[in-house]
Amino acid sequence: MMRRIGNGSLPSRRSFLQGASALTLGALASPSLVGRAFAGGRPDWSKGNPFSLGVASGAPSADGFVLWTRLVPDPLSTDPAMPGGMSGGTVPVGYEIAEDEAMTRLVRKGIATAEPRFAWSVHEVVGGLKPGRPYWYRFTSGDASSRVGRAMTLPAPGTTLDRLRFAFASCSNYEHGYYASYRHLADEHPDLVIFLGDYIYESIDTKHPIVRKHSDGVEARTLRQYRNRYTQYKLDESLQRVHAVAPSLATWDDHEVQNDYAGEWSPSFEDPAKFLLRRAAAYQAFYEHMPVRPALSTPHGPSMRLYDRFAFGDLVRISMIDGRQYRSREACYGPPNKGGGHLETDASCPERLSATRSMMGTTQEKWLYDGLSGSKARWNVIAQDVLMAKFAQKDETGQTAYWVEDWNGYPANRTRLLQHIHDAHVDNAVVIGGDSHCFWTNDLKPDFDDPRSPTVATEFVGTSISSRPPPYELFATALPENPHVRFFESRKRGYVSVDLDARRMTTKLQAISDVTDPNATLSTLKTFVVESGRPGAVEA
Ligand SMILES: [Fe+2]
Repeated sequence: MMRRIGNGSLPSRRSFLQGASALTLGALASPSLVGRAFAGGRPDWSKGNPFSLGVASGAPSADGFVLWTRLVPDPLSTDPAMPGGMSGGTVPVGYEIAEDEAMTRLVRKGIATAEPRFAWSVHEVVGGLKPGRPYWYRFTSGDASSRVGRAMTLPAPGTTLDRLRFAFASCSNYEHGYYASYRHLADEHPDLVIFLGDYIYESIDTKHPIVRKHSDGVEARTLRQYRNRYTQYKLDESLQRVHAVAPSLATWDDHEVQNDYAGEWSPSFEDPAKFLLRRAAAYQAFYEHMPVRPALSTPHGPSMRLYDRFAFGDLVRISMIDGRQYRSREACYGPPNKGGGHLETDASCPERLSATRSMMGTTQEKWLYDGLSGSKARWNVIAQDVLMAKFAQKDETGQTAYWVEDWNGYPANRTRLLQHIHDAHVDNAVVIGGDSHCFWTNDLKPDFDDPRSPTVATEFVGTSISSRPPPYELFATALPENPHVRFFESRKRGYVSVDLDARRMTTKLQAISDVTDPNATLSTLKTFVVESGRPGAVEA
């Protein structure tokens, strides 16, 4: 029988009772505990459902996971003193974990805390559960109860996992369309969802026709404004369903803070000390809305550790990379118009080619290389924000040029990584990314300019969930100069579905019919297969 996390065997009730701690048994014996904690009359859920943003699970381990929610009884509250309609002190929140979706076979019941300093979000770290199986959970508070979500534990380290179905998504600009992509993704009920950045957009679009408005009408710069943005996005039922049907892993791209920022460098040339205050607010809001591990990711001012790795038995190790926080400043950065993404030729910007430049920062680079060297997994997925493959374009004068905002701005780091994958014989390396609002399927090589350089990894970039694409011709005309690009398409919105087993990775590029239609239909644009031991995708 195929071993798949979604089909794990169910432990007996006896084993649940043996595994339950005194604390959880105490909570189990006192189902009214949560209700009594609100005997003082606050908070008052008569304003609305405190679980209006739904639930999420993430950061799985072999014996548990992180459960997330945020108390938001009044999502549209404009009172700056009451984010989401909340005020006052810490609020206890009940949670229940069961072996079944109907929540009849409870294995855990406890009390989490929602702290005002993190906008009454909850990051409950659950342990002591059985490895390699799904669980279901919900939160309770007074008379209110959240929707039920699905979580999972990782297989015990080194054990066999035959199959993992995951999807990845990026770039869900609310103003640019409806979330039919998320709706169809949820309908697939994957084992895992990976968010690769631009989960929110800080900006407002005044240049293009929009489908839905960012309700506050301002570019987010403050903690309150970033919270408002996450609140508006997470009110969307399709996004809530994605989080409810599957656990998720998440990294960020630029729009979680500011378009095209790099480390402490703002594209609007703000003083770095001032920009870091904005970054601190943005990182905190990200933390408050994602199911990340508090021990790892609780933000400290403008710093927040996000990179992390997860092993799904012997089948796949997924390394979640932070491609923004530790970046070198963008190549040839400077006023008036080189603050963010722009093209540079080798002659116009030798700095781009400097060996000292890093996309990941020295510490994260070493962490990734050590992790890849030490991995015994059949597949090694590197999940990050932007396009990795070399992509030569023509600038307005017809010269060969490179976009400095993706890995083309950090070619020395790209070469170090791909050479390491080659030298350390990393098995079946696959890079996944987002950011560009296009589908890409690429061969990755240590030296893209040498036809003899081997393909050492396969890259899949997902198109946007909803964000506007670049003009198709802009990239399509450059494809002949980039033979390692096996497929490119910018004209579709959607996501990517992956079905992974020991022998092959089957990747479907999933596309919706119309981003302006909430009832848009789904079709598979292309299916690619990567065979184990043979880097490079082949169209199925
Ligand atoms: Fe984007």
